[in-house]
Amino acid sequence: MSSHAEIKRVTTHKLSEMKLRGEKITMLTAYDYSMARILDQAGIDVILVGDSAANVMAGYETTLPITLDQMIYHAASVVRGVKRALVVCDLPFGTYQGNSKEALASAIRIMKETGAGAVKLEGGLEVKESIERILSAGIPVMGHLGLMPQSIHKYGTYMVRAREEAEAKKLVEDAHLLEQVGCFAIVLEKIPAILAGKVASELKIPVIGIGAGREVDGQVLVLHDMLGLNKEFSPRFLRRYHNLFEEISNAVQHYVSDVKSRNFPNENEQY
Ligand code: KIV
Repeated sequence: MSSHAEIKRVTTHKLSEMKLRGEKITMLTAYDYSMARILDQAGIDVILVGDSAANVMAGYETTLPITLDQMIYHAASVVRGVKRALVVCDLPFGTYQGNSKEALASAIRIMKETGAGAVKLEGGLEVKESIERILSAGIPVMGHLGLMPQSIHKYGTYMVRAREEAEAKKLVEDAHLLEQVGCFAIVLEKIPAILAGKVASELKIPVIGIGAGREVDGQVLVLHDMLGLNKEFSPRFLRRYHNLFEEISNAVQHYVSDVKSRNFPNENEQY
């Protein structure tokens, strides 16, 4: 038996079992082969090829500009590095909101051209038909409610969502709707912890939070933020596990100095 065959893949079914037995689900973003390999071998459950690639990989201010072709390039690279984790790929802005036929065509391209195991999209009632059509083709869908960065021009700010009663009520209704139509999990972004805990306790499907407190079934962070590759972005919910900006900067300065001073390469580093 090959080593590949011995590794048990994380499936959407496994995630629901984890919720049932109270085991927290871990999810991080990745956008390329090398990082995805590290995350997978470190034991992450879910890798999200997020449209946050628009921000951290491409330097755009919002997630809106990233295209389906670009998401497919990132997701296919990630999938090549992964043996165990479930890979979920974001449907980018403008590829699923228009009509359900277009949504299905976008999701099919992701599944065919990347090998990802599921797609994620933002919204509740407004995108119900798109979700149903994608699900009808046997493609697992992860929902995303709360702060939905693709709607930034509607909100005008990245502040905490659903603090007001009306928005909180709609979020709870949308979460139930996403479960009813057949989403296998949802992400809740930047909402009050009490509200997120209420949703997680009411739903049978896993609820994965980012800035949504700890009473949910799992956590997700953007890899570049949690590794400290980004010094400027410091929301309250972000825990930095490393300071890679400094580490990489120090390594590069060291290399520059070694080359300039003719210290690199030395006799053992040449042919
Ligand atoms: O695109 C992304 O990285 C996301 C996470 C913030 C959940 O959607």
